Amino acid sequence: MSYPGHYASSLEDPEAFWLAEAAKLAWFEAPSQALSKHASGEQRWFADGELNLSYLALDAHVADGRGEQTALIYDSPVTQVQQKFSYRELLEQVANFAGVLRAQGIRKGDRVVIYMPMIPQAAIAMLACARLGAVHSVVFGGFAAHELAIRIDDAKPAIVVTASCGIEVSKILAYKPLVDAAIEQANYKPRTVIVYQRDIKPAELDKAYDLNWQQEMEGAEPADCVAMAGTDPLYVLYTSGTTGKPKGVVRDSGGYAVALNYSMRVVYGLKPGDVMFTASDVGWVVGHSYIVYGPLIYGATSVLYEGKPVKTPDAGAFWRVCEEHKVTALFAAPTAFRALKKEDPKGEMVKRHNLTSLKRIFMAGERLDPPTYEWTRQVTGKPVFDHWWQTETGWAVCANPVGITEYPVKPGSATLPLAGYDIRILRANGSEADVGEQGDIAIKLPLPPGCLYTIWGNHERFQQGYFNEHPGYYTSGDGGYKDDDGYVFIMGRTDDVINVAGHRLSTGEMEEVIAQHRAVAECAVIGIADELKGQVPVALVITRDDNTVGEQQLQQELVELVRSDIGAVASLKVVHLVSRLPKTRSGKILRKLLRQIADADETGGDISIPSTIDDPACVEELKQVLQQRPLSA
Ligand code: COA
Ligand code: AMP
Repeated sequence: MSYPGHYASSLEDPEAFWLAEAAKLAWFEAPSQALSKHASGEQRWFADGELNLSYLALDAHVADGRGEQTALIYDSPVTQVQQKFSYRELLEQVANFAGVLRAQGIRKGDRVVIYMPMIPQAAIAMLACARLGAVHSVVFGGFAAHELAIRIDDAKPAIVVTASCGIEVSKILAYKPLVDAAIEQANYKPRTVIVYQRDIKPAELDKAYDLNWQQEMEGAEPADCVAMAGTDPLYVLYTSGTTGKPKGVVRDSGGYAVALNYSMRVVYGLKPGDVMFTASDVGWVVGHSYIVYGPLIYGATSVLYEGKPVKTPDAGAFWRVCEEHKVTALFAAPTAFRALKKEDPKGEMVKRHNLTSLKRIFMAGERLDPPTYEWTRQVTGKPVFDHWWQTETGWAVCANPVGITEYPVKPGSATLPLAGYDIRILRANGSEADVGEQGDIAIKLPLPPGCLYTIWGNHERFQQGYFNEHPGYYTSGDGGYKDDDGYVFIMGRTDDVINVAGHRLSTGEMEEVIAQHRAVAECAVIGIADELKGQVPVALVITRDDNTVGEQQLQQELVELVRSDIGAVASLKVVHLVSRLPKTRSGKILRKLLRQIADADETGGDISIPSTIDDPACVEELKQVLQQRPLSA
């Protein structure tokens, strides 16, 4: 069936549509119903089915004769190591590490925080948790101790799994001191920390809670898979909201497995046995879905890459990986391709590699700007596809459904809604926008399988954050429009979330950190356009009257504060000291106006000053400050 009929049937009869997709997986107990009303009042997927995602990702393939196929390729230019794991080998590692966790008392429903660099042990730890029904929460290695502490306090993990160090281009970053600092800061104290010791920089295991991964694995008893209900939680993944407190997106088991398996075929056009190279990090949703669970559940081979698009060692790294491992689908954030374009504008590095196996290139995580799309297509000669999704959805909402019908690409559009996503563009008053008119991108309920079903420990935040604005719909937080052909164009967030090099960050959180400084009376952080990273944060600060810290020193201290509290990934490099901030008469800072002023060059100079502004004269000062564009980080 081609896309129009396929998509229509997913909305007209979701029950039949998704039960047919569910039937493609090896459930312990097949679900008799797709959607059903849960005790929480919401509709949930595959409630009476029983499965285990570690079983689907590993055991089921070994049982089906795929045991000798490569499941995972670890390619690490930063350590010059390459390692391949067959499905059988990966199963053995995962079952043994699950045994280690079980011996430490981990049971179904317990939480385990995983704070690791891009090494196979990160994926092994995730799959081992899934095996036991423990809920993993992977924290991106670029986050500082304070961020890790916030997540530990929220998830209350019995165990933290980490590695002695990570490697960033040529820097070695010790992880263990960060974990110790986070545990010190957190109110909740995990029982145990399991440390994978890397030869390049082992950690001192001097705390009472420390265990050595390698030693524990030596005598480990392999653990079997625990049966999980379709609605049981698989993981919590924290993402930035508009407040300082990150939101723990909770993913179920059954719906996620079905959606990922479906997406591998329809969105990425892959077959079992194909090789997927997702150049992201297991700390992000893209890594969860398309480095670990998606490719493995589907029986593909996944490349886990410990490196950057550039400087490890050069802009040819992606193409080398594609050639050496016969990659079929490459998926990365547009910012990675912008970095490649900057270093290799003519695509000379691309020409040095044989890319015959590479069929398609996918991008997501931020808007794929048309120049980056065109460059990638031209230098590689490969079809390039944008697709739009969020941590909340777990898989793409809009994409070019190449596995069933490939549509012409319109640069700037994420193409069409995928099965089960009934996308509507809504005006503020809830009515539907006309074709071409921008509004809130909303999804009519029910959401398809795979999407979040609560915020960890805060169901009210889930309700308020996503469903209150437009009753009957999930509000995505993104704005955009549809064209005459139904193509969806995503134009950016409608809230205070920004996207820096494909990393989702909260300006509210940065404001909270900056406001702690003794010299700061008031501040606002906004995201402004950046050629390489898409957006970067800029802070505007009003100092206290009694401040004695000099301008330059204060700027440096604030940059350092954000770096040490949130992490280097926040990429805050520019702080302006100003005398006023634009506010409404009721005292609310007009951040949208600040963004308009900062990006006036890009948007053709359109600045609409709201009538509610208290002090219109401050706009001139802010123009002067914000329109001196900082150099790209
Ligand atoms: N652990 C520790 N530190 C990390 C880190 C990690 N996993 N990831 C990034 N950092 C640090 C970097 O070392 C850097 O620190 P510095 O300021 O001391 O140099 C800082 O965070 C910013 O890093 P990054 O955003 O990666 O910027 P960059 O200038 O080093 O590299 C790109 C620019 C475009 C090459 C890089 O951002 C990139 O590869 N982007 C792709 C992002 C991606 O895959 N996103 C996933 C979404 S799908
Ligand atoms: P994350 O939850 O980290 O995946 O970030 C999700 C946010 O990234 C979305 O809400 C969008 O703002 C942005 N985003 C992701 N993919 C795209 C895309 N293809 N086009 C435009 N924005 C995107």
